[in-house]
Amino acid sequence: MSLLSIHNVRKQFGALFALDDVSIEFNAGEVVALLGDNGAGKSTLIKVISGTYIPEEGEIILAGEKIEFPTPKAALEAGIQTVFQDLALCDNLSVVANLYLGQELRKSIFPGLSFFDTARMRRRATELLVELAVDLPSVDAMVKDLSGGQRQSVAIAKAVNADCRVIIMDEPTAALGVAQTRKVLALVKELRARGMAIIYVTHNMHDVMEVCDRCVIMKNGRKVGEVATSAISKEELANIIITGEMKTAATAPIQLIA
Ligand SMILES: Nc1ncnc2c1ncn2[C@@H]1O[C@H](COP(=O)(O)OP(=O)(O)OP(=O)(O)O)[C@@H](O)[C@H]1O
Ligand SMILES: [Mg+2]
Repeated sequence: MSLLSIHNVRKQFGALFALDDVSIEFNAGEVVALLGDNGAGKSTLIKVISGTYIPEEGEIILAGEKIEFPTPKAALEAGIQTVFQDLALCDNLSVVANLYLGQELRKSIFPGLSFFDTARMRRRATELLVELAVDLPSVDAMVKDLSGGQRQSVAIAKAVNADCRVIIMDEPTAALGVAQTRKVLALVKELRARGMAIIYVTHNMHDVMEVCDRCVIMKNGRKVGEVATSAISKEELANIIITGEMKTAATAPIQLIA
């Protein structure tokens, strides 16, 4: 059984079908690339899954249960975390403060009187970053002083810290150099090994080949098809994204998964 299923989702903006009868299955321990040219509907789909948009039609099933996401908060509580491109980290707070923002650990002094348990948050944050092999000067470093790759890693670690089952990443390496990209991709692999379902939105075919198990291709709000990454080349994939047709330039049909 899939961890997360999207069934026949339609989302309209006026007369425009931003998502038109889209169905996708996402499995635990799998990285799925969500691909498509500008305007294909990728961001709209992410926003439906993360509770920002309510679709006109269709259903979302998480771990066998139909869920409705009236708010982003409800999606978060169901264990769906999104790492948006603008990251939503607080620049003027430390790494540990960002990791625990809104879910601070407290210690009780007397009944009814509690304080933030800074020592425990620092200890847990350090452990988490070591486990995820995220390389940082210190958990006390200010986020504004980190590199792009380190910031992206903190944003991902924050999602993991919130105990998620599904993590959606919107172009996580778009602003990164080669070495930083490599580290973020290693982190994605670590999350996969932990059994999370990862939805990876990207325009970068190198990332797809490196870290994604399966590719879902969209165009004009519709799902064009899907393919195992191992069954296709970068060039073929780029061609499908542009043409919206599930066949290679050499006209050989590609083995579809669904
Ligand atoms: N809030 C909105 N109001 C009206 N139209 C919208 C809105 N959001 C998206 N659209 C339209 O829906 C379609 C899908 O947009 P979407 O942002 O999902 O594409 P995308 O695949 O994320 O593209 P990109 O790669 O450029 O980010 C586009 O035609 C877009 O103009
Ligand atoms: Mg987008």
